[in-house]
Amino acid sequence: MRKKVSIVGAGNVGATCAHWIAAKELADVVLVDVVEGIPQGKGLDLLEAMPIEKRDVSVAGSNDYALTANSDIVVITAGIPRKPGMSRDDLLQTNFKIMSDVVAKVVEQSPESVLIIVSNPLDAMAQAAFRQSGFNRERVIGMAGVLDSARFRAFIAAELNVSVENVTAFVLGGHGDTMVPLPRYSTVAGIPITELIAPGRLEAMVKRTRDGGAEIVKYLKTGSAYYAPSAAVTEMAEAILKDKKKILPCAAYLQGEYGIDGYFIGVPCKLGAAGLEQIVQIKLTAEEDAALKKSAAAVKELCAVIGV
Ligand code: LAC
Repeated sequence: MRKKVSIVGAGNVGATCAHWIAAKELADVVLVDVVEGIPQGKGLDLLEAMPIEKRDVSVAGSNDYALTANSDIVVITAGIPRKPGMSRDDLLQTNFKIMSDVVAKVVEQSPESVLIIVSNPLDAMAQAAFRQSGFNRERVIGMAGVLDSARFRAFIAAELNVSVENVTAFVLGGHGDTMVPLPRYSTVAGIPITELIAPGRLEAMVKRTRDGGAEIVKYLKTGSAYYAPSAAVTEMAEAILKDKKKILPCAAYLQGEYGIDGYFIGVPCKLGAAGLEQIVQIKLTAEEDAALKKSAAAVKELCAVIGV
């Protein structure tokens, strides 16, 4: 039997996510949205692309969660995106209400699913989904680190004029202004980038990574990034659907790891069939550790506002 992935929110992130997942023939896809006609239209359009792409998956859209029943993975992108000048945190109250409503409906239909949370502010929304769902932490994972690392990787590849395939990067912490890119653990063909890029230049690239979401919002004006965010979700979904045991930076609910207890924050996670199968602990310098703790404190503050 084919796997099933449902995506809540048929906006740019959700629809592009459906596109990547169907194009890679990873699973049947269901798009859900409150807006009448949009998930149905985009779902049908994608379905009609499948003969050209030679992919045997079904794609469908609905306003009704019944169609999402028994999904293996549910990706939640629902919520309002940023406008220029807004921070991800400005979305907190609105998206919390949407998240609570969505998660209740998702859980009713797919009590065994793994949730991948994409809505912003990411770490607080993952926490809200975790509390609302009652799922164990293995089955609620936030997407952010893969996206932030991909941005860093793209900048590193361009800077050194090397293949993106040669570049690995790690970005930890919250998905926000306090995120923690780790140049020490970022490599080109195994060589730490600290050996290849001068400190000043590297600092500028770290800053650009941290501001990566805002850079796109500034260009688009009416919304935020969606190609890279949805590609990041797809990599996480693939790791789970194929039980790849792939280590990716994701937002996970920490229970003492990295000295943080009771909050979602971006850390290296092993993803497989069970969802979050392991949190990988790496040694941080005092400075990196302080940056991660600062990031966790920012997440804690947001969670306190919405009481999750
Ligand atoms: C970004 C938004 C999706 O980083 O958070 O582009």
